[in-house]
Amino acid sequence: MFIVLWLLYGLTMKCNFTLDKTIKLKKMKILVACEESQAITKEFRALGHEAYSCDILPCTGGHPEWHLEGDVFNFIDQGWDLMVAHPPCTYLSVSGARHLYNKDGSKNLERYQNQREALDFVEKLMSCNIPRIAIENPVSVISSQIRKPDQIVQPWMFGDSASKTTCLWLKNLPKLVATNVVDKGEFKEWVDKKSGKVKRQATWYYDALINAKSPEERRSLRSKTFKGIAQAIASQWGNL
Ligand SMILES: C[S@@+](CC[C@H](N)C(=O)[O-])C[C@H]1O[C@@H](n2cnc3c(N)ncnc32)[C@H](O)[C@@H]1O
Repeated sequence: MFIVLWLLYGLTMKCNFTLDKTIKLKKMKILVACEESQAITKEFRALGHEAYSCDILPCTGGHPEWHLEGDVFNFIDQGWDLMVAHPPCTYLSVSGARHLYNKDGSKNLERYQNQREALDFVEKLMSCNIPRIAIENPVSVISSQIRKPDQIVQPWMFGDSASKTTCLWLKNLPKLVATNVVDKGEFKEWVDKKSGKVKRQATWYYDALINAKSPEERRSLRSKTFKGIAQAIASQWGNL
């Protein structure tokens, strides 16, 4: 009995040692594209990776030394091991599809052109020469125009009591595993004056509309990355 316990202890210690060594060996060079908040970049950095955010806007996460300001395609060929990208969803989201038609029922050609350009941007990100890629977007026309997502996650699967349907298109990456399933958060319901239909929206998302002082601020509040998802991305995809 004593010998069996001793052997088990020895095996556990050996596994820990190997795990430690593996984590130390696998420092990755990571690009978090279209991220000004640096939410995911900071989680990768906390685990010792060489992670950089990239956005045409200055960063708001407090670490300009980890930020590449400019068009992501100016930085794409710099030997990254992994890219996580949040392409702009203004012209891709299913909720914005109503703008594709003018009030008289004719096609809004400018909006169609913007959608085509946004899709081209996503396809270019998906096909760039980086071994592991994750593209993140809300429910969008990427699913019908390019391909269906590999996974759909929610903040409440990772410890944040909130709902935000988040689609992931993955290349050489495993699906994220839920870390802490909690409640789905609060929702606001109201009757739409025009249609008379009952509408329902996550409270945090609705509040972003009310509290934002400009359309830009509203976009930025609504496109925020929840802490739990950012931590899961860093710990699960930074350890491959
Ligand atoms: C949907 S938001 C994603 C925000 C992100 N979740 C964050 O936490 O910062 C899309 C971002 O893409 C950026 N963007 C747009 N075109 C870009 C480009 N060509 N290269 C890099 N970033 C770009 C926008 O400035 C915006 O911050």
